[in-house]
Amino acid sequence: MIERPDNRSYRLRGDRQTLAQENAYKRSWSAFGVELSGTIKPAELFPGTSVQIMEIGTGMGEGTALIAAAFPEIGYIGVEVHKPGVGALLGYIERMNLKNLLLIKEDVHMVLHNHFENQAFDAFHLYFPDPWPKRHHHKRRIVQPDFLQLIHDKLKPGGYIHIATDWVPYVQWIETIFAASSLFTGGKIDRPEWRPLTKFEGQGIGKGHVVTDLKYFKKD
Ligand SMILES: C[S@@+](CC[C@H](N)C(=O)[O-])C[C@H]1O[C@@H](n2cnc3c(N)ncnc32)[C@H](O)[C@@H]1O
Repeated sequence: MIERPDNRSYRLRGDRQTLAQENAYKRSWSAFGVELSGTIKPAELFPGTSVQIMEIGTGMGEGTALIAAAFPEIGYIGVEVHKPGVGALLGYIERMNLKNLLLIKEDVHMVLHNHFENQAFDAFHLYFPDPWPKRHHHKRRIVQPDFLQLIHDKLKPGGYIHIATDWVPYVQWIETIFAASSLFTGGKIDRPEWRPLTKFEGQGIGKGHVVTDLKYFKKD
């Protein structure tokens, strides 16, 4: 078992929810939230699916919900520390009547270390991770050598991580960390047409940000 890491990869923003988020939480956490106890087996959470994917840092959840709606045959687990985001995504799950998306509210490092067996997932999605632009904050970027080891352990053979970011220096950081590791192979890819353009991403593009997609496959 590990505790919450000292170097948090997220900002502490408080748990103040809007009324809509709070109400969605009250109504639907018991149906779509996964409590953290013992070992969680993704295939058992989504009977009838043969592929299960974890999205790390779902934010307000718009993109997560659109992807789950587009691929009803895949089981998705979204992990987010920020309670208002979880409430917002529960609202999407309700309105879009999604049956293939469940949520965990905790730091993904603890979640994966403590509650999932190795080779639990077909893929990870990591979209627009906090860029931590200041040099003295780089250690808080989620993409780190120990993170690569963790996701490598939790991926099935042939599994992959798909990352998107609109922070060019973070692209270089990601490429450097993956290049220094023998655990993965891959790099930049074209934006898959199924990855939804969220409000967050649209705002970045409006400010002139260049969005890069990267995909790295687990080496056995
Ligand atoms: C910049 S936001 C992007 C959100 C969303 N993926 C999107 O594209 O709009 C990054 C999110 O990752 C979450 N996050 C960062 N580190 C995390 C961790 N260790 N475990 C769970 N969530 C994390 C943050 O709380 C934040 O909501």
